Amino acid sequence: MQFSQRRSAAILAISTLVLVAMMGLPVQAQLGSPLPNLAPVESKVFTAGQSQFFRLWGVQEGFGPVSTDGGCSRCHKQPVIGGGAARLLTFFGKTNPDGSFDQLISEGGPILQPLSNAPFIKSGLCTLQGEQIPADANAIDKRMTAPLFGFGLVDAIADQDILNQVTFEAVNYVSDGIHGVANLVADYKGVIRPGRFGRKAQQPTLLQQVAAAFAHDLGITNPLVFPEDCPQGNCNIDPNCVDNIDPNVPNNNNTASGGKGIFAIADFPRFLAPPPPPNLTGNVLLGQGVFMATGCNECHLPAYQTPLQVFYDIDLNGTQFGPSPSISNQTVGLYSDLLLHDMGVKNKSKFPANTLITGQATNSQWRTTPLWGLGVRTAFWHDGSKKDIPSAILQHSPDGSGEAAVVIQRYQALSPTDQANLLAFLSAL
Ligand code: HEC
Ligand code: HEC
Repeated sequence: MQFSQRRSAAILAISTLVLVAMMGLPVQAQLGSPLPNLAPVESKVFTAGQSQFFRLWGVQEGFGPVSTDGGCSRCHKQPVIGGGAARLLTFFGKTNPDGSFDQLISEGGPILQPLSNAPFIKSGLCTLQGEQIPADANAIDKRMTAPLFGFGLVDAIADQDILNQVTFEAVNYVSDGIHGVANLVADYKGVIRPGRFGRKAQQPTLLQQVAAAFAHDLGITNPLVFPEDCPQGNCNIDPNCVDNIDPNVPNNNNTASGGKGIFAIADFPRFLAPPPPPNLTGNVLLGQGVFMATGCNECHLPAYQTPLQVFYDIDLNGTQFGPSPSISNQTVGLYSDLLLHDMGVKNKSKFPANTLITGQATNSQWRTTPLWGLGVRTAFWHDGSKKDIPSAILQHSPDGSGEAAVVIQRYQALSPTDQANLLAFLSAL
């Protein structure tokens, strides 16, 4: 490069910087792209994880014998892969006459896996059927696929910051009746921690949520979730329906794998950039004010901050990488306290606490849904039952019960202009 060329390149670079500074906006990643500022090794594993997340799995890789679908991207795909979808998962169980709850594991519960390996077995000898909801199930719940943008940042939020928020709410939001609680669950090392993933915050780490999805959605057991989900509860699995599993395939529960497969697939959501923050001008800016004044922020906490130096495990022996340049000391603008709130009698799930899909959350408790990326969602609420944002807001307390009651009364008393501005803000998230 000649000197003059270099100088004009430098001037161009400086003027771009000035332009960005003038607009007051940091350079933002597009939905579906990796976090900016990844370490070289992080870029590499993001790309590798992306291909694992995008692909469909084969029977020789331990897929099935029953499953919900062929790969993560079959559900997590809107508006780009890594997002959510209106697609639902079905859970079933049984409430006994004495009030106790049976997850119906003996009949294939609590997660319905409607697909069987039969169509993928070349010999044609597998006649296994996909699961059906058994006749004695009287508790059926549906949950909608959630988006995974920015999940490495969510994973990195310090436990203590989440626990401090419990105290903060108990002290400051008494008059509004808001007091979130942490879903305290064991991580894979046996440490009790605040859960943060899943619609009931039932999983404490990204790795565990990924391992659970691997095992229960794809049927691929792994070192964190190793019991096979027996098709309709029948653990006597026809050998014609499974293929010999290569011990070197990274995704099964054999010792050779060391859990490489679950770490690899977790690298995709870990380094997936969060949705870009809203451009705070005009109605959107006014709507932000309404959001705060109404008290939506009391549960939908605008942001957490990750610790100054974040290290994360890269294998099951506890080997760590860090400090990660992309994840350390970042603002996580998720609009959620990651805590459980009592959402009242009209929002009770059929599942009580202490099941595979709830952790400590009772039937009326739900994790505050992160609102970042709200503008690109096509259905709302844990079960996808709400088709637009205003109906989702009213569903917080349709009958005046639950922790959101006071805030929702305030919302209903807003002028049409304030409600419209609030909607403009939410749609820009
Ligand atoms: C059949 C559809 C389906 C498939 C396939 C699927 N998921 Fe999900 N995923 C869901 C649903 C539904 C939820 C919400 C579940 C809940 O609340 O417990 C979810 C939740 C998650 C979450 C937590 C989201 C949150 O808001 O905390 C993560 C992480 C995740 N899935 C990762 C994966 C990975 C990795 C795979 C592939 C191994 C996968 N999923 C396959 C439907 C699916
Ligand atoms: C008491 C805590 C609390 C308050 C106050 C609260 N929310 Fe929520 N919000 C939640 C919880 C919990 C959920 C998840 C409920 C579910 O899916 O069952 C949620 C879900 C939502 C959703 C649906 C998101 C999705 O993708 O499904 C929207 C939109 C929303 N809240 C907006 C608001 C607005 C706007 C306000 C203020 C008027 C508000 N919330 C006040 C706790 C709260």
